[in-house]
Amino acid sequence: MSDGALPHAHRILVGVCGGIAAYKAAGLVSTLVQRGDVVDVVMTESAQRFVAPLTFAALTGRRVHTSLWDDPETIGHISLVRAAQIFAIVPATANVIAKLAGGIADDLLTNAVLAARIPLVVAPAMNMAMYEHPATVENVRRLRERGALIVEPASGYLAEGEYGVGRLADEDAIIAQIDAVLRHGRELRGQRIVVTAGPTREAVDPVRFLSNASTGTMGIEIAREALSRGAEVDLVLGPTQLEPPHGVRVRRVTTAEQMRRAVMEVADGAAVLVATAAVADFRPAVTFAQKVKKNEGAEAIALERTPDILEELGRQKNGTFLVGFAAETERLEENARLKLRAKRLDAIAVNDVSHEERGFGVGPNELTVLYGDDGRIPLGFGGKRELARGLWDAIEQIRRG
Ligand SMILES: Cc1cc2nc3c(=O)[nH]c(=O)nc-3n(C[C@H](O)[C@H](O)[C@H](O)COP(=O)(O)O)c2cc1C
Repeated sequence: MSDGALPHAHRILVGVCGGIAAYKAAGLVSTLVQRGDVVDVVMTESAQRFVAPLTFAALTGRRVHTSLWDDPETIGHISLVRAAQIFAIVPATANVIAKLAGGIADDLLTNAVLAARIPLVVAPAMNMAMYEHPATVENVRRLRERGALIVEPASGYLAEGEYGVGRLADEDAIIAQIDAVLRHGRELRGQRIVVTAGPTREAVDPVRFLSNASTGTMGIEIAREALSRGAEVDLVLGPTQLEPPHGVRVRRVTTAEQMRRAVMEVADGAAVLVATAAVADFRPAVTFAQKVKKNEGAEAIALERTPDILEELGRQKNGTFLVGFAAETERLEENARLKLRAKRLDAIAVNDVSHEERGFGVGPNELTVLYGDDGRIPLGFGGKRELARGLWDAIEQIRRG
């Protein structure tokens, strides 16, 4: 039995692919069944060359699903994912990861993933060169961006007799990831959350604009985490190359004024609004209708203030828990507390953007959440996904009082 045994049985769908580590999926399924979970297993055709479906049937006491064509009456791939709370692919081959990244659905497992609106946990296992191949790296990145939880493979002895990364993560690590998703799955169920993310662009002329270095990563991670905790999520997103998570309702905007309008349309009735967008404070007072020629020389661009969305939300607030972000380069907490009070926010996350290695765009970040007169929850330094989890834990803690 795993130490992390949960009090309630969960319905878990396990997808097994054709890799050497397929036999380890039998151990994982056995542990889940022993602690009381109801486990359905889907196997690819290749997986059945490594382990017989009979093994999983015996372990689960349930029929193992191997073909798209077995259950035409119930449309097997749809009924399987409807019944499950979480889908874990263990092991995930390079092939299946590539198919999922490309949206290919040519067998039961890949069809089931496409049809699933439940959290997806992917545990890759393969030869080191395959795992480090740029195609696999890119495919894993795409799955992660769409909200899949990747249980990183471990380093160690690989079947080919070499040492390196590519070995299926330990059973405990995979189960911990499954449990983390199952535990977090409910907290925001039935609640609508609004997140703003990304920069805005304010046009100087038809080809030039004023903007900032925000990529929208932090807000997208916050939206993703809210979604995985069961919320209905509206994301108001400024111009960014990033793909928002599947399942989030996205409104794309360009300017601060468009962002204001989109936010006002969705803010009413939201349980929580998290404003991470780096909205321009100023815009050109005049936008030239034609491209300004070099020799015409607009030597000075007159600027005017853009609408202050957070301030407007703070004034109109009726029940929505309002969270702002303060990207500061000096006297962080002092400036953030002023903003917290002036805009009547419920909490503010302070982000030190004075260091090159944190803040806008780049990977890791450091956040502290301030609330009330002197409430303070440091979330520390970490990846934006971990910080998004920490932020929602902090918001829930403050809301509970
Ligand atoms: C002995 C053997 C071991 C293999 N091990 C792996 C592996 O660990 N990971 C992987 O991604 N592919 C592995 N492959 C390749 C896959 O079996 C192959 O790509 C297959 O098409 C995967 O099918 P599936 O992704 O539909 O399960 C292995 C192949 C053989 C013959």
